[in-house]
Amino acid sequence: MVRCTLKIFCMREKNNESKNKKSLKDVFRVFVRILKWAYRANRIAFPLFLFFLFIISIIPFVNSYINSKVIDEIVALLGIGESDRVFSVLIQLIVFSIVLTLIEKVLWVLVILFEKIHYFGIARYCTMKFLKKVSGLDMYHYENEKSNDIIQKAQDIYEWRPKEIVNRFAWMGQSFVRIVSSMVIVLNFSVPAFLLVFFTTVPNLIINFKFGNDSWGIWDANVTDRRRYSWTTSLLSKEESLMEFRIFRTRNYLLGIVSDIFDRFTDKEKKNQIKRSVLESIVGNFSAVGVLVFWVLAIVATINGEITIGLLTFYLGSINNFSDALSEFFRQLSRQYEDSLYLIDFFKFMDLENKINSGSMILSEKETPPVIEFRNINFAYPGTDKLVLNNFNLVINSGERIAFVGENGVGKTTIVKILSRFYDVSSGEILIDGVNLKDLDFDSWYKQIGVLFQDFIKYSQFDVRTNIELGDIDKMGNEEQLNESLFKSDAKKFVDEYKNKLDQVLDKAFEGGINPSSGQWQRIALARAFFRDAPILILDEPTSAIDAKAEYEIFERLYKFSEGKTVIIISHRFSTVRNADKIYVIDKGRIVESGSHEELLEFGGKYKSAFEKQAEGYK
Ligand SMILES: Nc1ncnc2c1ncn2[C@@H]1O[C@H](COP(=O)(O)OP(=O)(O)O)[C@@H](O)[C@H]1O
Ligand SMILES: [Mg+2]
Repeated sequence: MVRCTLKIFCMREKNNESKNKKSLKDVFRVFVRILKWAYRANRIAFPLFLFFLFIISIIPFVNSYINSKVIDEIVALLGIGESDRVFSVLIQLIVFSIVLTLIEKVLWVLVILFEKIHYFGIARYCTMKFLKKVSGLDMYHYENEKSNDIIQKAQDIYEWRPKEIVNRFAWMGQSFVRIVSSMVIVLNFSVPAFLLVFFTTVPNLIINFKFGNDSWGIWDANVTDRRRYSWTTSLLSKEESLMEFRIFRTRNYLLGIVSDIFDRFTDKEKKNQIKRSVLESIVGNFSAVGVLVFWVLAIVATINGEITIGLLTFYLGSINNFSDALSEFFRQLSRQYEDSLYLIDFFKFMDLENKINSGSMILSEKETPPVIEFRNINFAYPGTDKLVLNNFNLVINSGERIAFVGENGVGKTTIVKILSRFYDVSSGEILIDGVNLKDLDFDSWYKQIGVLFQDFIKYSQFDVRTNIELGDIDKMGNEEQLNESLFKSDAKKFVDEYKNKLDQVLDKAFEGGINPSSGQWQRIALARAFFRDAPILILDEPTSAIDAKAEYEIFERLYKFSEGKTVIIISHRFSTVRNADKIYVIDKGRIVESGSHEELLEFGGKYKSAFEKQAEGYK
């Protein structure tokens, strides 16, 4: 069963990957872009890292060149019988070697130092860029499968792939310098010999390029497997899962998924590794033969007196260096090419453009909340054609305290979402003091509203105080307003009972933390909304998880303590909003009844019957 579902996932994955063709131009573009980022992230450390890496890759050649000269000198001195001068040459050589080794050591320290600094720098840069982007995206991107996928992918890699790619570039540069220097040296000896070594190495390079990416863990599996793997493992290690595991015995099913992903991944990798080993053991010998022939040619040249013994050692060292560096370079190149796909996706994410942008009109400062008018609104969610709001018309006057009631799914939250401009209406217009919402400046509008959603944020790693003060970061530290909000939301009583009072952290996972009940969370969130103290207060069922009586009491306080403000309360319960100035019954995306509680009872429609049914419990 598990295997079967996974297979379906696999097929989908393959299809996705084949669609993701990348052109060399794209690859080049993203590489240039990430290198620019690396430079911007570390204008000093990054260039210094590259510089020292460059110097250090030349040192071995300098060293072996000097050594070869010394060997020649010794041979010459021995030839003319000056064996005592050999000693002083040897001393010079030793001193030189020590100095060079010291320099090399210092250079390595510097390389590693600047590599670290640049590594942290680019990690920070990418993380901040990613988080800034992802937290500022608009809802459209989450509705759309394609951008949703891009967001997911960027999320998977932003922390480490970009910095790895930059780093690999630096080390490729080092390999490249080694290749060029050794090539120049070897070409100096003999062009045909060089070509021989080069062409016998090519098959090896191809293997390195094709199989360059040794996998060391499940994290090298394909995207879907990786995602399923992390989702399942995190579910398995969550406190909240424990209860269901016990009762439903879903644990084994989930464990099965993890081990299945492993098996499939390992099987594939094993096959790959075997293929690679076989090919390498055959093809690897070609280059060995090439190098061997080079050796023979060089030795023959030495015997014939065409080159000195010193040069012989120099050439032999260089040819080994050449073939190593070339293999290394191709391994890196292959990995880089593969990772470029991630980078392309990452920059696709960075280039996502928001559809909803701020207008430029500023609302004029007034004592009273603005008038809100919904005029002939039709709205369908992006990518769908079902009209969730259907010719919706409503005027909410300044300072009115109204309620929307209706069953689940009739469009209540949608009204709040378009009013908050998370989406633009399909047709019609929303007017704020006569100005089209689309033309309003974001800040100017958002300053006017405080919205508390059904799934409000629980800033559980912070204390009570911060949870409330985040309602308006400009007013953080305003003790008076904090106390007032606690009182209005009726949170004061239970907060006073917390061990650390206002400094109580609200998550058991943190030291000294506690887990508030959901009713307490709702009151804390409500206090946050009060702290915001915006002219228009909107509550979209943040109280739905507590009982109707408690919801009624909270709404009561809200109406009581929001003098002069526009208040919009949303509930699927008909029994809790009776004190609103005006109640709107929503059904299928439009207003079907409206009026005060008494008027609606008198009208004897949907509201009346639903109210009487629900209110029975606590009359
Ligand atoms: N992001 C979305 N994409 C598509 N349809 C949605 C989306 N959000 C809500 N809907 C649909 O819109 C309708 C109204 O939803 P909503 O406004 O949340 O209802 P309510 O708040 O009254 O319970 C429902 O049919 C729901 O399925
Ligand atoms: Mg809702």
